[in-house]
Amino acid sequence: MYKVAIIGLGYVGLPLACLCAKKGHKVIGLDIDKNKIDKINIGVSPLDDEYIKKNLKKGAIVATDDFSKIKAAEIIVICVPTPVNKEHLPDLSFVEKSVESVSKNLEKGQLVVLESTVYPGTTEEIIKPILEKSGKAFYLAHCPERIDPGNKKWTIENIPRVVGGTNHESTEKAAEFYRTIISADIIEVKSSKEAEATKIMENTFRDVNIAFINEMAKSFDRAGIDIIDVIKGASSKPFAFMPHYPGVGVGGHCISVDPHYLIAKARGYGFEHEFLKLARKINDSMPEYTVELLEKELKKSGKDLAGAKVGVLGLAYKGNIDDIRESPAVEVIKILKEKKANVVVYDPHIPIKSDAKTLSELVDKSDYLILVTAHDEFRNMDLEKLKGKIKIIIDGRNCLDKNKVIALGIKYKGIGR
Ligand SMILES: NC(=O)c1ccc[n+]([C@@H]2O[C@H](COP(=O)([O-])OP(=O)(O)OC[C@H]3O[C@@H](n4cnc5c(N)ncnc54)[C@H](O)[C@@H]3O)[C@@H](O)[C@H]2O)c1
Repeated sequence: MYKVAIIGLGYVGLPLACLCAKKGHKVIGLDIDKNKIDKINIGVSPLDDEYIKKNLKKGAIVATDDFSKIKAAEIIVICVPTPVNKEHLPDLSFVEKSVESVSKNLEKGQLVVLESTVYPGTTEEIIKPILEKSGKAFYLAHCPERIDPGNKKWTIENIPRVVGGTNHESTEKAAEFYRTIISADIIEVKSSKEAEATKIMENTFRDVNIAFINEMAKSFDRAGIDIIDVIKGASSKPFAFMPHYPGVGVGGHCISVDPHYLIAKARGYGFEHEFLKLARKINDSMPEYTVELLEKELKKSGKDLAGAKVGVLGLAYKGNIDDIRESPAVEVIKILKEKKANVVVYDPHIPIKSDAKTLSELVDKSDYLILVTAHDEFRNMDLEKLKGKIKIIIDGRNCLDKNKVIALGIKYKGIGR
């Protein structure tokens, strides 16, 4: 049993805190958000996340903003945000600030682990020097989080992890800790740099492959080929093909952000990541492409977006969660408003930011729909209720029954179908 301090109680840190408590460790949670701290201390999840709601037990995590409490811990895990700024450059200020707070309270022999996604070299070049200011000996490692919020099969408990320390003892100590909480392989790599590079490669792999399939979708759409049928066909190859799906855009705090960390870092050592930049460009073009699909359909009956009543289904960047960071919905809504459409938004997971209170209210106020988020509430909606009311559906996630929509007399356009 360890005493663990977890810094940053968000989509990454809070499930980790819950898991550590579940496995019998003594957990202190540090955050700068008072509101979050208060909720956690009364056992209420501050996030719409099933894993947290199920596993957050009142009193199991002592949440606080008092960093001196980390003195009592043996292991300190940092899970703070790593966004990009307006110029798409890495913003490490949250990491730096939290590590400064750790450094001021560091005790000899503590293990510090960074879970936040960063570019290769951050742990050695940024974190280590800040901790060294404490004058105390410490262990330091990077163990990138791979959590996929909303995923019921692969949770924080059963996803294998990669660990790399700034020296061999740090790697071993960190791996030993993760083996006490995770029932999957813990892979030890040679350095923190390799662990950081592993995470960046995983996420850029996804961004690049999604960009590839988005490009195929745009091409096949012009050729009158349904990309979903093609992906199904290609997926029958038992090796060397991995299906990715086109959509209205890539959002979230990871896939749409992390490539910029490597692009910027590599530029610093004189390498231009052309492939990664192109992937970002293609994926960033998808919200506009999606709105254009509606525009083109309207044009066929001599209409345009000005004054059109458009219902936007979903604000979150992906289904069944409430996370709006970098969501393509924001861009879709912005473009629609620029084109003077009357926009109504509904997201059952984010009522506070929704214009409509229910799906039926949204349908009542709309003639056209753009589905942005594949929430179950939208996937499983009663399409019959749209009959005679909605004229066009743009299915930005290809998650509706195309034939059923068409059979109801509604025009259907998906991404690449
Ligand atoms: N969300 C995901 O699905 C996911 C998956 C894998 C990796 N990651 C990575 O994990 C990291 C955290 O992401 P997240 O989604 O949990 O972010 P989040 O915004 O949900 O949570 C971060 C928390 O850190 C707190 N915080 C900020 N500065 C702090 C400070 N100085 N001291 C203490 N707390 C502070 C914030 O108040 C917030 O509660 C990022 O690097 C992200 O790229 C995220």
